[in-house]
Amino acid sequence: MNWNNQRSASDLAKQEDINSLGKLPKHVAIIMDGNGRWATEKGMPRIAGHKAGMESVREIVKTSSQIGIKYLTLYAFSIENWKRPATEVTGLMSILEQYLRSEIDELHENGVRLHTIGKLSSLPKMVQKLLKESIERTSDNQGLNLTLALSYSGRWDIVRAVQMIGLDVRRGKISPEDISESLFSSYLQTANLPDADFMIRTSGEMRLSNFLLWEVAYGEIYISNKYWPEFRSDDLYLALQNYMNRERRYGMTSSQIVNQAQNEKHSNYLQKMMNVLKK
Ligand code: FPP
Repeated sequence: MNWNNQRSASDLAKQEDINSLGKLPKHVAIIMDGNGRWATEKGMPRIAGHKAGMESVREIVKTSSQIGIKYLTLYAFSIENWKRPATEVTGLMSILEQYLRSEIDELHENGVRLHTIGKLSSLPKMVQKLLKESIERTSDNQGLNLTLALSYSGRWDIVRAVQMIGLDVRRGKISPEDISESLFSSYLQTANLPDADFMIRTSGEMRLSNFLLWEVAYGEIYISNKYWPEFRSDDLYLALQNYMNRERRYGMTSSQIVNQAQNEKHSNYLQKMMNVLKK
């Protein structure tokens, strides 16, 4: 099923509107929160909330790919989540297995490249095997980079990076003076992802919950009051519109940012003219 041929006129119009607002965030990261509360409020077991959450994952992945987002990272299971009741953990692992089995063909057909971050060795063997196969199968794809954070936590990755840097210093591969922000980033599991520009959290909670702590340093944060199972394309459009109307200052002043944008526009124009003259 080709997602681009599947768009309704209304989705197409909304997606074009968003693209016309300017630069999309390169890397959108989502804390998919509120599955349990959604189910409990409906008198259902918590696992029913996770199952419904899988439908939101399907829709948001498809819509992100249609809009042209290059990186989407979903917080699907944290290291802290292992402390949940065994039945919920087993249920979540089987939902993940189901998702990989049922979605991989469509993801592949639509150019999605799958990645993971986290302590994968803690996951059930079958999930590890499916992930490995899916990552290999989609490794040449050029569309959306979908990263599933599984048994992941930001502090865990930072500590792991520090240990590896320590080892490389001991082996003489690097010296302490070589340690810079970019060298440090290259030791993280997210080394091949750009920093997270835009972090969305559902269910109205305002916490980072140990997600991409280093990578979101200058990211914009957006909180949706919807529970994750209710978060669908229209909610993503709203979030993106909100992001695209913000001014990202990276510690500078507003007028510096305006000047920078004008200079960039001017040099792009000059470059274009040079190319025309060269022809
Ligand atoms: C947080 O909600 C959500 C999770 C711990 C799991 C997220 C998993 C899914 C959406 C399932 C499908 C995922 C993939 C990648 C196929 P919560 O249970 O903590 O909600 P609560 O705060 O209301 O209890």
